[in-house]
Amino acid sequence: MATLAPTSDFSPIAARYDATRDVPEDRLRACYERLIACGVLPEQGLVLDAGCGTGQISLVLAAMGHDVQGFDVSREMIDIARRKVRPEWRARYDVADVRRLPVTDVSVDAVVVSKLFQHVGDWQSGCRELLRVLRPGCCLIQVNDRGAFGNVVRRHFAARADALGFDERFPGVRDRTAFVAFLAGQGCEEIAIDVSDLTWSKSVVYGEALAQIEERLFAEFWYLPDGAYRRILDETARWVDQQVEGSLTIQRMTPWLTVDVFRKGGRHG
Ligand SMILES: C[S@@+](CC[C@H](N)C(=O)[O-])C[C@H]1O[C@@H](n2cnc3c(N)ncnc32)[C@H](O)[C@@H]1O
Repeated sequence: MATLAPTSDFSPIAARYDATRDVPEDRLRACYERLIACGVLPEQGLVLDAGCGTGQISLVLAAMGHDVQGFDVSREMIDIARRKVRPEWRARYDVADVRRLPVTDVSVDAVVVSKLFQHVGDWQSGCRELLRVLRPGCCLIQVNDRGAFGNVVRRHFAARADALGFDERFPGVRDRTAFVAFLAGQGCEEIAIDVSDLTWSKSVVYGEALAQIEERLFAEFWYLPDGAYRRILDETARWVDQQVEGSLTIQRMTPWLTVDVFRKGGRHG
């Protein structure tokens, strides 16, 4: 069997994932209710969550009454997702790579995906696989939480990495244009839906942001060599100390949701 291109398996940071990334459930529920009202997400049926991680974006759908099937390459992330499933929900979480899913052709009523494709080398195979399992006329929905991770400490670290020439930090999708063009080439229709009014508040303490980078919690920086990582981290720590309130400085942020919706060609039936 051919070897797959690199992909970022989140097992090493699974135990820390939910504490450091979160989208409020009520915002997600409001987003899904809007997608249902717009006719791109069915009120019932099977929803596949690709690269589901700890189930953050699909457990809400299970609570809303959908059948959910999540897949992730990380056994540790899947174990956490499974522990969150309530007995009355119809939700399963299993280990599988998005590029080789153990799912029958045209059997899924919607696909949700969040923060996956930047991590997957040969992401085009993943998209093809999701379109293979999706019924004609049904949608691939990418849910994005914007503005939640771009705190200034992380941006400072990233800018230093850029300056040292480590500016291609993801194995997968790097720009949205290529992603949209690929799906259009697969016969998908892009449907514009605005959910950017779904915002929330978040505060970031610089010292904690720095500690999270030190813990190597962000896959964006996993591909930096250790020596460069240490140098950039030390420089970023000095920069944090120079701020007026040093590591106690707080940044208040207002993240928001966006969605990318692609309808698979063919008649629904
Ligand atoms: C940033 S996390 C997003 C998790 C979840 N979608 C969320 O929004 O919280 C990316 C996830 O994709 C998983 N992943 C990476 N490459 C994958 C692949 N080729 N197939 C399936 N999952 C993959 C990682 O293990 C990780 O759990």
